[in-house]
Amino acid sequence: MTTWTHTYSGKVRDLYASEQHPGVVLMVASDRVSAFDHVLEPGIPGKGALLTQLSLWWFEQLAGIPNHLVAGDIPDEFAGRAMLAKTLDMYPVECVVRGYLSGSGWLEYQQSQSVCGVALPAGLKDGDRLPEPIYTPAWKAPMGEHDENISFERTVELVGPEVAAALRDRSLEVFARASAIAESKGLILADTKFEFGADPETGELTLADEVLTSDSSRYWDAALYGTGDRTASFDKQIVRNWLSAHWDKTGIPPVLPPEIVEQTAARYRELIDRLTA
Ligand SMILES: Nc1ncnc2c1ncn2[C@@H]1O[C@H](COP(=O)(O)OP(=O)(O)OP(=O)(O)O)[C@@H](O)[C@H]1O
Ligand SMILES: [Mg+2]
Repeated sequence: MTTWTHTYSGKVRDLYASEQHPGVVLMVASDRVSAFDHVLEPGIPGKGALLTQLSLWWFEQLAGIPNHLVAGDIPDEFAGRAMLAKTLDMYPVECVVRGYLSGSGWLEYQQSQSVCGVALPAGLKDGDRLPEPIYTPAWKAPMGEHDENISFERTVELVGPEVAAALRDRSLEVFARASAIAESKGLILADTKFEFGADPETGELTLADEVLTSDSSRYWDAALYGTGDRTASFDKQIVRNWLSAHWDKTGIPPVLPPEIVEQTAARYRELIDRLTA
């Protein structure tokens, strides 16, 4: 019997370590949902399992890209919503890639015609496809602080020129592969965020965290996008929209009503069904 000790809880995942498995982290995905940097009540039933299955599926599709998964037994109480990973030296950079203009990228573009220092053509509209995918890193702020968009040059200062370039190139490569797969399933991968770490033994750049889930990515239905509807995403946009309409973003957020919880759970299920079908 392996004894796992809780070491850390992020907004969504709980991490465990065991003396019997040095260098390994058990990452358990909860049903917690966060928006605007707040963890909301209640959770979305089944979300932790769905996001774990989706991450595992994507890791499998991305054969050849070194990732943090290791084989081993997962305790029954966490079955279906946990993965075992190599404990990496994580880089403090959130590797964001955008193929389309949306969300905070759209807001920034309206101010400056650029996103995170990447200049873009004039006249783009919300939801437009970019001429090519762009890498727009963010600094991974310590717990409790907001992540901050940074320039590529700033990532060079943080991790050095070789690693900064490798993070960018690998992120763009994985995004291109994932976009093609999503497209073949009638889905658009609008943007996503990767996290990488260094293998403590070999130093190898390794894809970590969750990958290409609806928590870390924005997916759209390609058919609806073609008709001009750019609002039907498969992420927690339903939650964000409801919160924006019912909360002024100060103090404790209101409890999500059952229909919002159910609609969000249904969208998460639909994404995994369509991708893995
Ligand atoms: N292989 C790995 N080794 C070590 N840490 C990892 C690995 N993969 C992911 N992580 C870290 O595990 C945590 C996952 O927790 P979660 O996603 O809930 O946190 P978060 O709310 O996104 O961020 P925060 O770190 O601010 O709590 C993240 O801090 C992530 O960087
Ligand atoms: Mg996270």
